[in-house]
Amino acid sequence: MDITVCRAADVPLLDRYLGTAAATSFHARRFARQQAGRSTYLVAWQDGRPAGHTEVRWGGCADPAVRAARPGCPEIDALAVAEHLRSRGIGGALVRRAEELARRRGHTAVGLGVADDNPRAAALYARLGYRPLTAYLDRWSCTGADGTLHEYADPCTFLVKELSR
Ligand SMILES: CC(C)(COP(=O)(O)OP(=O)(O)OC[C@H]1O[C@@H](n2cnc3c(N)ncnc32)[C@H](O)[C@@H]1OP(=O)(O)O)[C@@H](O)C(=O)NCCC(=O)NCCS
Repeated sequence: MDITVCRAADVPLLDRYLGTAAATSFHARRFARQQAGRSTYLVAWQDGRPAGHTEVRWGGCADPAVRAARPGCPEIDALAVAEHLRSRGIGGALVRRAEELARRRGHTAVGLGVADDNPRAAALYARLGYRPLTAYLDRWSCTGADGTLHEYADPCTFLVKELSR
């Protein structure tokens, strides 16, 4: 399994193998943020196909409560692994690669949000050394294939890991 920084040519492959139902490409938006210098979009590969992804948002979480509790903390976001490839260490490897990038940029901590109804992901993050910082509402929206805007507010906990030098 390899992990690489997303290239333009990877976006159609991500759409094909790890696509979402949303009309506006989930992956294209993340690649555009990376090109603007706001994030790094990591792709995990298995047998020449995208197997998972995560985005490191260098500006941190958008939520004001999280920003106040831990200013300047980058956020690991959009972590997902293809269903048939889960529980093989790919998700953990993506998180560790994101931590390594943050450390290289001089950050002393990274964080991520986990939905309160996702205990398996929370268990993985606890094993990787993440500890709760604050509760918040993760507000996000997506446009469906029929053009309808769907808005969500998921109760989440923001977790932080202190990075060793
Ligand atoms: C969470 C996720 C990225 C983990 O990826 P992974 O490659 O399976 O992670 P690892 O193999 O490194 O670790 C496996 C652990 O992840 C956790 N996990 C969370 N959701 C899981 C799922 N649906 N299936 C399998 N493991 C899951 C478990 O603690 C699991 O441990 P186990 O194998 O002992 O049960 C993956 O399950 C996924 O894509 N889930 C759907 C999207 C999601 O919930 N993303 C996280 C948002 S905060």
